[in-house]
Amino acid sequence: MSQWLDVEKVEEIAPGTRRVVDVDGTAVAVFNLGGEFFAIKDACPHDGGELAEGELQGDEIICPRHGARFSVRTGAVLGPPAYEDLRTFRVRVTEGMVQLKTG
Ligand code: FES
Repeated sequence: MSQWLDVEKVEEIAPGTRRVVDVDGTAVAVFNLGGEFFAIKDACPHDGGELAEGELQGDEIICPRHGARFSVRTGAVLGPPAYEDLRTFRVRVTEGMVQLKTG
């Protein structure tokens, strides 16, 4: 069943930082991009690299394993060696709490 999961208080995820949460056994990385929040599956489709450990350049995350690039906003793959987009998740802020849509 789909529901909203509390991630963290807004002030605990500063712009340019991220948090990883477990959603039914799937690691999801939640990013603050200049005050907007976005969430992507925290596993590179190339070979499972943990994207939350990667370098953030603007709106792009670089996989720490082999350098594939993805849009944090849309999940779109932007550079090899990955060729599949990332799953994204809806995020909202309610009463000062960042929440993630599950299911
Ligand atoms: S695991 Fe991400 S580029 Fe290889």
